Amino acid sequence: MLEKIIRLLIIFISFAFINKSFAADQGEIVPQKLRVEYLKNPVIDEMLPRLSWVLTSNENDQAQTAYQIGVASSIQKLNGNKFDVWNTGKVLSNQNIQIYYKGKKLKSRGVYYWKVKVWDKNGIPGPWSKSAFWTMGLLSKSEWKAEWIGLDLYNQNREPQLILPPAPYLRKSFTLNKAIKVAQVYVTALGLYELYINGQRIGKDYFTPGWTDYNKRVYYQVYDVKSYLTKGTNVVGAVLSYGWYAGYVGPGLFVGLRKVRAFYGKIPKLKVQIEITFTDGSKKIIISDRTWKGSDGPLRESDIQMGDTYDARLELIGWDKPGYDDSSWRKVEVFPDNPKRKIEVYPGVPVRINREITPVSISSLPGGKYIFNMGQNFAGVVRLKVKGKRGQKIVIRYGEMLHKDGTLMTENLRKARATDTYILKGDPNGETWVPNFTYHGFQYVEVTGLSEKPTDSTITGLQIGSRMSTTGEFETSDPEVNRLYQNIVWTQLSNMLEVPTDCPQRDERLGYSGDAQIFIGSAVMNLNVAAFFKKWLVDLNDDQNKNGLYPDYAPAPLSWGDRYPYHPGWMEGGIIIPFTLYQTYGDIKNLEKFYPQMKKLIDYGYKKTKGKCYYDEGEWAEYGKGHLGLGDWLSIGPTTADDIIASIYLGYSIKLMKEISEVLGYKGDVKYYSNLFRKFQFGFIHHYINAGGKVVINEHKYDFYPKYKKAEGISGDTQTTYANLIYMGLLPDSLEKKAAKHLVELINKNKGKLTTGFLGVKQLLPALSETGHDDLAEKIFLNKEYPGWLYEVENGATSIWEHWDSYSKKAGFASSEMNSFDHYVFGSVCEWMFHNLAGIQNNGVAYDSILLNPYIDNHFSCVKAAYESVHGEILSYWKKDGDKIIYQTKIPVGVKARIFIPSQKDKLPEVNGQSLSKYKSMKLIGYKDGKWIVETPSGNYTFSSLIDSQPLKKGIKRKNR
Ligand code: BGC
Repeated sequence: MLEKIIRLLIIFISFAFINKSFAADQGEIVPQKLRVEYLKNPVIDEMLPRLSWVLTSNENDQAQTAYQIGVASSIQKLNGNKFDVWNTGKVLSNQNIQIYYKGKKLKSRGVYYWKVKVWDKNGIPGPWSKSAFWTMGLLSKSEWKAEWIGLDLYNQNREPQLILPPAPYLRKSFTLNKAIKVAQVYVTALGLYELYINGQRIGKDYFTPGWTDYNKRVYYQVYDVKSYLTKGTNVVGAVLSYGWYAGYVGPGLFVGLRKVRAFYGKIPKLKVQIEITFTDGSKKIIISDRTWKGSDGPLRESDIQMGDTYDARLELIGWDKPGYDDSSWRKVEVFPDNPKRKIEVYPGVPVRINREITPVSISSLPGGKYIFNMGQNFAGVVRLKVKGKRGQKIVIRYGEMLHKDGTLMTENLRKARATDTYILKGDPNGETWVPNFTYHGFQYVEVTGLSEKPTDSTITGLQIGSRMSTTGEFETSDPEVNRLYQNIVWTQLSNMLEVPTDCPQRDERLGYSGDAQIFIGSAVMNLNVAAFFKKWLVDLNDDQNKNGLYPDYAPAPLSWGDRYPYHPGWMEGGIIIPFTLYQTYGDIKNLEKFYPQMKKLIDYGYKKTKGKCYYDEGEWAEYGKGHLGLGDWLSIGPTTADDIIASIYLGYSIKLMKEISEVLGYKGDVKYYSNLFRKFQFGFIHHYINAGGKVVINEHKYDFYPKYKKAEGISGDTQTTYANLIYMGLLPDSLEKKAAKHLVELINKNKGKLTTGFLGVKQLLPALSETGHDDLAEKIFLNKEYPGWLYEVENGATSIWEHWDSYSKKAGFASSEMNSFDHYVFGSVCEWMFHNLAGIQNNGVAYDSILLNPYIDNHFSCVKAAYESVHGEILSYWKKDGDKIIYQTKIPVGVKARIFIPSQKDKLPEVNGQSLSKYKSMKLIGYKDGKWIVETPSGNYTFSSLIDSQPLKKGIKRKNR
């Protein structure tokens, strides 16, 4: 009997236990991915950093109703819930991003541990998150005891045409007598550095400390170096390179500028400070100063554009370890600091080697040359593995394409030598080399000088770029469209290397503001670019002209003589990009910080238009004064008048400023910019738009233009004009309809093909979709003939090209001088692919409210897009299954969605295998254009519905255009 009772008791207890854990699992929403200023456990120097987390739940219809953040000065305190730095207590709020720290004043070098817990929609608290931390850098310049040191090697080793001095090696040895508790190194350079302690490289970052306007600021990195140091003798060493500070930057050589390199200084300099705390509490600091010694070494040439040359025979064996005889080394020079230059913690994402690529084929050419085909165009370098005789010279050249005869095509690199050279020391076990301070854009590698037949491990591709997490996924039933998407992502990876570059291969590689503003809406879908652009926006604002114009590229060391480096469509990047970051990440800080500078841009336009807020013909484009626009760069067909472009971009910027001032609560400015926008609309419409809604200009006012600009006529009635007016929401509804009609007419007249250049390409398809022409948008998108996205794919592209016909199998190369095969601008169609084709749309701020409304037709049998928003993953995935459509969706915790489910009208779709009416949380809105519309809170929902005809998605205007 007793036994029976015990058994029953056990069953009862275990049932209760199972039930309890089941209940706990169900009710929980768990904060994950704790981030500070978008970064995981970072070093920062912001006094009011922003915290964020992402919520996950096993349950549908979940939301956060309150949170508690705890911050402690040690992990022990955090674990014991002793929040001695900040305890928010329970805060009733659904906010999980952009939460400003408001605890005790943060201290230099402080390490802060934090965690968070949240209450769900029923007010039930979940568990504490895993702990995270952040570390503060040196908060005042006076805490830097280290000096700038360097070695002048400028006149050594001159090439006939190029100035390529060798890289300085610097070292210092020091002794530590006690056991170490903590050791941090603070390190930076004017130029580029690699830091070594006791023979080991510190950190995995490349191109440190990053590119800034070095006259205004320089960033530093912080690394934990405790494990690298020992009791006894230690050595710290650094290799410096010229980088953006002292090396070749931009196309100066090519266009014949007077200054082509050394824009900020001639000699690279190092500043390093190692701070050690011993277990007994005492401290020691090792700094860069006049006690260091320097020498040239094996790195004979080192330049981002030109390449590295390494003579392994000259290796300074053991130079970065104790016991090395540096008696022949010179004393370093100490350089004064520029007191105006700020020194700050690097706020972006580090540049790293992100993936390795194995060649897909190797072919041989006369003269002992081998061509390695990497199968993919990308930015980076290669790892060379080689065996041979001492003094044997291996020359590695890079190219994006091959000529017909199989030789490397390098004409499009212009003056970028893009050549790395390795001279063997003759190690019988073989030698491995990776160039440190250069990168190239390439798919093909030409290697000369090998004495043995190469294998696929002779050359390994190393893809380099700013390391960002992937946020987008896009796949369809059409392999060519999938390839296009991959090409877009690869091109983004190639060009987000420290700054958003135009291209990674030729002598340009500048952070073009136009290219970046065009691509930003696509960039945010593919990778988490929040911290990357936060950093670059500082560069852009640092180099804003005094008169308010943002430069064509930033940092902006080059000056073009008489040419005017400010252009409509480029300079507005200073407003469009921070606004897009706000829409995507809810980031108000950029808007606040740069607001006064954004205002200056509008002030410039206001003044130049004499208060009209639009430009009459010729008013922007004052030829002779150098104000000629870049216009709709690389468009096909008639040139869109520069004054139309300038006006549209001014009008759009004013409109965005109105929205930005609203976000920031600057009421007076909301009124001011609303008023300016009305002026723009009124003036622009009256001057340029006729009764039929057509944009007309007085072409003769451009008679003064050079021939190349007028070759195909100058017009206002272009695809680019209408696409922009619609996309930017610059017209009242009645005129917008007419604009759409003209746009469609122009496209039809052009046999269904696009004519847009840089400034119309991203707008074209969204403008069509929004005005009810998804079908035409898709037709243009899928066009396989010139000019079109799939034309490139058909011609073998593995990345996005600068021109629609950069290359074709039939006609060969379009041009040699300006022909990049890795240029992301035309990839800005990605925006449309996510928002319209797959139908994931932001309907609030930072995707806190979304629309899921895919375009479904006969071309595809499935389209799948996923987007990792700051609230979590969003999925829109439909596929055909006989006469059924299966539509799978995911909505993050706390996010509201309006879902458009293609379906017959007389039969409601099923949700997760049940009748829709059973889902109480799901609100049926109605039936429109072949789709049932429901509103739903978070969760995973799979809809299944019957369709009879092909439903077309009707135009839906995006919020906050
Ligand atoms: C770049 C472009 C850029 C343009 C503007 C070109 O050389 O590669 O992408 O926007 O110049 O001047």
